[in-house]
Amino acid sequence: MTKTIGVISIKGGVGKTTTVSNLGALMSSQFDKKVLMVDANFSGPSLGLHLGVVNPKQTLHDVMTNEAHITTAIYEHEAGFHVLPGALMGKKVNSYALKSKLEEIKHMYDVILIDSSPNLNDEMLATMVASDEILVVSSPDYPTLSATLHAVKVAKEKKVPITGLVLNKVRGKSFELSLKDIEEASDVPVLAVLKDDINVLEALAASKVAALHKPKTNVSIEYSKLAGALLGQNVRDPRMLNRVRDIFIKDFEKQAVNRQVLVSNRK
Ligand SMILES: Nc1ncnc2c1ncn2[C@@H]1O[C@H](COP(=O)(O)OP(=O)(O)OP(=O)(O)O)[C@@H](O)[C@H]1O
Ligand SMILES: [Mg+2]
Repeated sequence: MTKTIGVISIKGGVGKTTTVSNLGALMSSQFDKKVLMVDANFSGPSLGLHLGVVNPKQTLHDVMTNEAHITTAIYEHEAGFHVLPGALMGKKVNSYALKSKLEEIKHMYDVILIDSSPNLNDEMLATMVASDEILVVSSPDYPTLSATLHAVKVAKEKKVPITGLVLNKVRGKSFELSLKDIEEASDVPVLAVLKDDINVLEALAASKVAALHKPKTNVSIEYSKLAGALLGQNVRDPRMLNRVRDIFIKDFEKQAVNRQVLVSNRK
């Protein structure tokens, strides 16, 4: 059955598009899934640019205004996954039509990932309505946490299951909020902790997906483990030191424990 996963935050620039593009690319290349990534950030689309789809002829905007059939606005990336980009200068659309438009092609995919708007408006609500489950992206600072708590509240009111939180751009500084603080405030499990990593910016500058471009970085490995957990699979850490720590010291990170619970629930 196709799984539609919405990626949201009520804050710009925290890493929604980066999360969608890395998870989608890994689910396709590492887990062999048929993946479609959809840019439902109608007012500020950028997924196409993250994935090297520049100036697409047809876009999701054309689909939403009934000027194009959805299949004509889907592009195949050289790595095998599919992208449904938005138009940078797109017309105003009725975002709530997203769900019914995606229904038409859902059967073609194992996973559909929806990249959302950072604003609490119809665009974000449309992503929630079209999704079977939600991932919330946050960073470890108070303004973002407060926006995250708001996003969690709205998703709960809409009765959209929240699978977990992705904690991004972590620098490991003592002034940052901890995973524990964030879990306690939101009552949502943190499923991945991603370092603030220059490789992510370097990959973006080259229109490449970081996890495919530099698969051995902390960010890439963490995205790979998250992609696996969302698909109900455990991913072994390729780093020898981390494996030794897990086996002998049994110092499991909380996000790893949360992913294990998710995998068990999905079996
Ligand atoms: N872990 C990371 N380390 C370093 N840079 C990152 C990381 N994650 C994302 N970035 C960078 O932060 C910027 C914003 O990321 P992204 O576009 O994914 O955010 P967004 O939440 O989708 O933003 P918007 O709300 O505007 O759509 C980009 O330049 C991206 O490359
Ligand atoms: Mg974005």
